[in-house]
Amino acid sequence: MTTGFRGRLTAYGDDAFSAYLRRVFLKSMGYTDDALDRPVIGIVDTFSAYNSCHATVPDLIAAIERGVMLAGGIPFRFPVISLHESFAAPTSMYLRNLMAMGVEEMIRAQPMDAVVLIGGCDKTVPALLMGAASAQVPAILEVTGPMLTGAFRGERVGACTDCRRFWADYRGGRLDAADLPAVTDQLGPTPGTCMVMGTASTMALVSEALGVMLPGGAAIPAVLSARRRQAERTGAAAVRLARDGGPTLDRVITPAAIDDALRVLMAIGGSTNALIHLTAIAGRLGIPVDLDRVDALGRETPVIVDLKPTGSHYMQELYEAGGFARIAAVLAPHLSLDRATVTGGTLAEALHAPPDWPQAVVRPLDRPVSDQGALAVLRGNLAPGGAVIKQSAAAAERLDHRGPALVFDGLEDLARRIDDPDLPVTPDHILVLRNAGPVGAPGMPEAGYLPIPAKLARAGVTDMVRISDARMSGTAYGTIVLHVTPEAAVGGPLALVKTDDLIHLDVPGRRLTLAVDTAELARRRAALDPAPPAPPRGYARLLHQAITQADRGCDFDFLTADGR
Ligand code: FES
Repeated sequence: MTTGFRGRLTAYGDDAFSAYLRRVFLKSMGYTDDALDRPVIGIVDTFSAYNSCHATVPDLIAAIERGVMLAGGIPFRFPVISLHESFAAPTSMYLRNLMAMGVEEMIRAQPMDAVVLIGGCDKTVPALLMGAASAQVPAILEVTGPMLTGAFRGERVGACTDCRRFWADYRGGRLDAADLPAVTDQLGPTPGTCMVMGTASTMALVSEALGVMLPGGAAIPAVLSARRRQAERTGAAAVRLARDGGPTLDRVITPAAIDDALRVLMAIGGSTNALIHLTAIAGRLGIPVDLDRVDALGRETPVIVDLKPTGSHYMQELYEAGGFARIAAVLAPHLSLDRATVTGGTLAEALHAPPDWPQAVVRPLDRPVSDQGALAVLRGNLAPGGAVIKQSAAAAERLDHRGPALVFDGLEDLARRIDDPDLPVTPDHILVLRNAGPVGAPGMPEAGYLPIPAKLARAGVTDMVRISDARMSGTAYGTIVLHVTPEAAVGGPLALVKTDDLIHLDVPGRRLTLAVDTAELARRRAALDPAPPAPPRGYARLLHQAITQADRGCDFDFLTADGR
């Protein structure tokens, strides 16, 4: 394959002319022929003023460029869509696949021998890996890194498990509105990603487990000089990838790598969202993720990382404890350490000197934070295609719960009624939200963390069983069943539930059951309103027609490896 700036020529019907013309425009930017004959390293620039988690990207690019040039390459940055959780309506997930398409096509369209992917905020790492896996250009990931913590009235706090706790306190009347500005001053005190085990931290650690970043890259806080040194080394590693012609991501993200990543997801108390993202990344390479295998990994893998929301620490302590290497050292007997990574070596070589100093964040397998892994997969007549619960962040006494349903028909209905003082709800009710899935919402927003109804919150209720076809933030906690598949909007049984139907959540038995007989369910199905029409145009129409359900990663069907 032709490399450097002679590769991927614009189609004028005369390749020599295309190469000659490209050189004219490159020289217009002041490059010499010597510079232009070096390995070309693309750098995906995900800086955006709308993405606070990526505020340090310009500094990281400078460090990556330095690494590329020290190693004899020539760096070329280029922009793609950037997504932040709080700045994307209706939800960043709605746009993840659009970002992945942009990444794939811009890597494929432009000349580069290897590419550095800069991700961080929740959807960016999945979108980058999905796109790069499909583009098949050697790629290496650098993440922006987590924030440091803040302090509110002497208490250590951070984004965004504590954000939710303070908001629940405010709704419950335990925090004054006048205190909110001081709280918001402290919850995100530095640039970087949320510093608990939310989706960003989970995807960073899972990416290191996959072998797509340099060792040690997942946990370094965003604002430390170590993060820039890591970025410089990543730039140099990209030049090695370019010179060696790989390995490309299909040789790194193998079935064994996905299995290891899922095990790490369980062990770190990771985000439910990561399961969807890993499924989508694997799907780009034709690797199916079996929910029964996910559940089996959860049963045999305890949570060993003591980070919020499952535990009590923050990413900074995990970094100081040795980061991913510390986790991998505990899990080593269960990992496939002979796998190739983007370093050109194996995972075993990357982990050759595991950290061994005293620390309190990563526990041994025989003294875990939680006996079972972070996630459990539920099935039953309410979720024939599966549903997921983050059992490590749920209340133990509610994991086997029977209660009457209180149904909300969608996000608007939820917003309209949840705080109604006359809402007929008790702490034993099971809150059901439907039409919040990949097609229904659309884009599967993080609405699964239904607020506790105001009148119960004020009475001191802090958790209830909640069920939806939505997702929830990895920073959230509670007895919350998510990703009910198939979703209500495509005819899943969630569409058939009526208020006061009895539901049984049985996490130990992995069941989610609606106590309504099949004949009555058939009657209800026959009486369902027809599905609303597809949006008339644009990306909304594409998403409506092509998005898959949660068990297939919510990727667009035509973007998966087999295009179906
Ligand atoms: Fe970006 Fe939490 S909002 S990582």
